[in-house]
Amino acid sequence: PLSAPLIVVSNRLPFVLKRNANGKLQRSHSAGGLVTALGPVVMDCGGLWIGWPGSHDVRPFDEIPEPDIPNSGLKSQQVKPVLVRQELFDSFYNGCCNGTFWPLFHSMPDRAIFSSETWKAYQEVNEEFALKTIDALRQVRARLLKEYNNPSDDSMPVPVVWIHDYQLMLAAAMIRQVAIEENLACKLGFFLHIPFPSWDIMRLFPWDDQILEGILACDLVGFHIEDYCTNFIECCQRRMGCRVDHANSNIEYDNRTVHVRALPIGIPFNQFQQLAIKAPRVMKDERVVLGVDRLDYTKGLVQRIKAFERLLQCHPEHLGRVVLMQIAVPSRTDVKEYKALKEEIDQLVGRINGRFSTADWSPIRYIYGCISQDKLAAFYRDSAVALVTPLRDGMNLVAKEFVACQINENGVLILSPFAGAGGTMREALLVNPYEIDMVAETIHKALVMDEDERHHRMQLLRKRESSMDVDYWMASFLREMDQVECAITGPP
Ligand code: UDP
Ligand code: G6P
Repeated sequence: PLSAPLIVVSNRLPFVLKRNANGKLQRSHSAGGLVTALGPVVMDCGGLWIGWPGSHDVRPFDEIPEPDIPNSGLKSQQVKPVLVRQELFDSFYNGCCNGTFWPLFHSMPDRAIFSSETWKAYQEVNEEFALKTIDALRQVRARLLKEYNNPSDDSMPVPVVWIHDYQLMLAAAMIRQVAIEENLACKLGFFLHIPFPSWDIMRLFPWDDQILEGILACDLVGFHIEDYCTNFIECCQRRMGCRVDHANSNIEYDNRTVHVRALPIGIPFNQFQQLAIKAPRVMKDERVVLGVDRLDYTKGLVQRIKAFERLLQCHPEHLGRVVLMQIAVPSRTDVKEYKALKEEIDQLVGRINGRFSTADWSPIRYIYGCISQDKLAAFYRDSAVALVTPLRDGMNLVAKEFVACQINENGVLILSPFAGAGGTMREALLVNPYEIDMVAETIHKALVMDEDERHHRMQLLRKRESSMDVDYWMASFLREMDQVECAITGPP
């Protein structure tokens, strides 16, 4: 249980709302690392969650069926939906978030589109989220005043607003401004779930100063790894002229201290382990090399599939015995780059299956769709190898989920050093995803690795992920928050 009320703000809620054929609202699971990690923890602490319900056709929101939202356990009253005009939202989400910031922050600037129009939409939508958050803060404040009677009671907890990810980098500045005007005591935190790029890349964005200002409006800023902290700090120094206390990783800005911390996210390890213990067998007697990703160009799917082809070509002993099972979750399907990638992968899979298939075996089993977590747990458990080879990735939770589900410790994890997870999961086989020959050789090495080595590596991986799980991450962030002084103190 938390001492301070928590308000989580993220673009996506842990479920998608849709109308069924009878016009009734229904909730379904939403994929992506952020909600997998945050869902269970917000539920446990009884916090509020402000976000977009994944579609526009959901008014009135009160219709949401009680009591629980699948895969999150959140009660309806814990959820504050943000709904904006569809056209505006599209420009924000498809345009600025996923057409500009996603590629830019993953250091793929050639894919990024810079547009003043979508940037304006980004500002407007961030303001909507900020207004909703202010409403929530007022509500929390009123509840606390009722509970404590005396507004100057020192023991009254200070609400924590925790903003997530690249879709909401401006919200904090707007929240701080109104909170100061209205004397709404609170602490502001931000966590970026994707990489923070180097200054050289960040400066390509025409309004980079406003982004930095937005993040600097927080008291605590968290990233997955030290490299991202270093990049952020350098941007603040060079673009904003901030003074930095390097020893403590603090930035001085606007007469306040902004604490910058590397806090690598974990997964609900026990939950996945339990799913793996219970899940029935889903695969036949064949050795599976598994890939699980949103269909995204950062995930290195094309290179991975080509590496699997190279494996079959160079090591024909695997023909008929090994399959690549690739689950690709449809993602951001209105964005051009994602449409083009889908076409490319469809063709590639077709070509390779055509080349190697026999009457009773095909090398690639390709699923374009979203799989529930219990089924996923069975795939993770029963696969011989997990191929997690993003070209760049903030953390990558799939690598961690695979390890949590490896209850028999038989499998091998192949991991890209360009994922945040690559920094800590050292017992995995690390391989550069751009080196297709090396990836093929690494898959071969994993398939022929002796049992002792497999067990040994997996044991160490499991030990680390079970102790540094999502609860640990959450507690670390809130502990850091606890130590931050509140700059907006409310009425005397
Ligand atoms: N996921 C899912 N169903 C699927 C495929 C993936 O629920 O069919 C989940 C997966 O369990 C993981 C998340 O989506 O928690 C992906 O997170 P990751 O950090 O690997 O990548 P992201 O999508 O956040 O870039
Ligand atoms: C990544 C991002 C999240 C995002 C998720 C799914 O994990 O860091 O912020 O929610 O991908 O993407 P989507 O665009 O469907 O929300």
